[in-house]
Amino acid sequence: MKSACLSLLLVSVCWALPFRQSGFLDFMMEDEPTSGDGPDLPGSRKPKIPKITEESDKDLMPDGPEGPFCPFRCQCHLRVSQCSDLGLKAVPEKIPVDTTLLDLQNNKITEIKENDFKGLKGLQTLILVNNKITIIHAKAFSSMVNLERLYLSKNLLKEVPSNIPKSLQELRIHENQITKIKKTSFSGMANVIVMELGSNPLSSNGVDNGAFTDLKRVSYIRIADTNITSIPKGLPSSLFELHLDGNKITKVTAESLKGLKHLSKLGLSHNEISVVENGSLANVPHLRELHLDSNALTAIPSGLPEHKYIQVIYLHANKIAAVGTEDFCPPGYNTKKAMYSGISLFSNPVSYWEIQPITFRCVFDRSAIQLGNYRKK
Ligand SMILES: *[C@@H]1O[C@H](CO)[C@@H](O)[C@H](O)[C@H]1NC(C)=O
Ligand SMILES: *[C@@H]1O[C@H](CO)[C@@H](O)[C@H](O)[C@H]1NC(C)=O
Repeated sequence: MKSACLSLLLVSVCWALPFRQSGFLDFMMEDEPTSGDGPDLPGSRKPKIPKITEESDKDLMPDGPEGPFCPFRCQCHLRVSQCSDLGLKAVPEKIPVDTTLLDLQNNKITEIKENDFKGLKGLQTLILVNNKITIIHAKAFSSMVNLERLYLSKNLLKEVPSNIPKSLQELRIHENQITKIKKTSFSGMANVIVMELGSNPLSSNGVDNGAFTDLKRVSYIRIADTNITSIPKGLPSSLFELHLDGNKITKVTAESLKGLKHLSKLGLSHNEISVVENGSLANVPHLRELHLDSNALTAIPSGLPEHKYIQVIYLHANKIAAVGTEDFCPPGYNTKKAMYSGISLFSNPVSYWEIQPITFRCVFDRSAIQLGNYRKK
């Protein structure tokens, strides 16, 4: 699974899974085998493999005259240098210069120093997930002219590192301590396709206007579970998926969605949205899926009957007190509108027996509607 995630961008099945290294190195970790060595006689102690100390992290183990170096306890094979789950407190020295994938996740690295990755010109993927990194030297990435994927999630970073290589296509930096996305944080990063920034302590206006403007190719942005109160301004028109769930956004303005002509999925669940301005949906003509559940809406957003492609709309757990027969579907039955495949309305203060069946005349199947006060099945 992991290698599939690494080699394929935009594989949604990978996003759904928590980022966790599979047991590639697990067999290396078993210092004391529990079986297979015969009975454990009292007094006859098995030789113990000594615990590796911090000092020995820097030791090198030559591969013999024919092979290149590989840092002690790492595995270097086919240009992949695997150094995850080793309790490392620093980036090991002498990483093979032809490495294209360097995996350092699940260690205890606290700092990335200026020369830690020096000379790694061929590096395409750098995985530093789940360490204790607080500082990344401003020149630490300067050798990596080919870097495409940088995974920095689950660290203690207070800001987006400066001087990220312009070749980068994917940045994952969720679950850090970043308080501000600055206008200059991503300047010139025209190759980025995937950006994951969620679960950082971003305050109300924690994202500067235009912070994403330079990401001309970006397809996926996720900023979930922060304290931002509005949809970031100046999002690129290339955007295909925008996930802003679990924030403190109070309204959807038409202006904030202007120009997002490719947007297909918009996630705004678990916010504090009371209003979706008229004209908002018209600004995202290719939207297929809209999640507005667990907000403070008092009415069905306007513009649904005119929208050509929307198929899924989640509106459950809001304060919607009335649903009219013209709220979802255009008048009449013969329409060019895509049929809905999912509408949820449960947990709203509307009595579902008061909603007329004709309201859902452009829904693919009756089972696509979740109306009652609890979800069936
Ligand atoms: C959001 O703000 C509240 C109140 O100030 C704070 O307790 C919480 O930790 C903040 N959450 C994030 C993700 O920053
Ligand atoms: C939004 O549209 C609804 C119905 O289409 C209309 O009743 C309402 O006055 C409009 N609101 C604004 C602020 O234009």
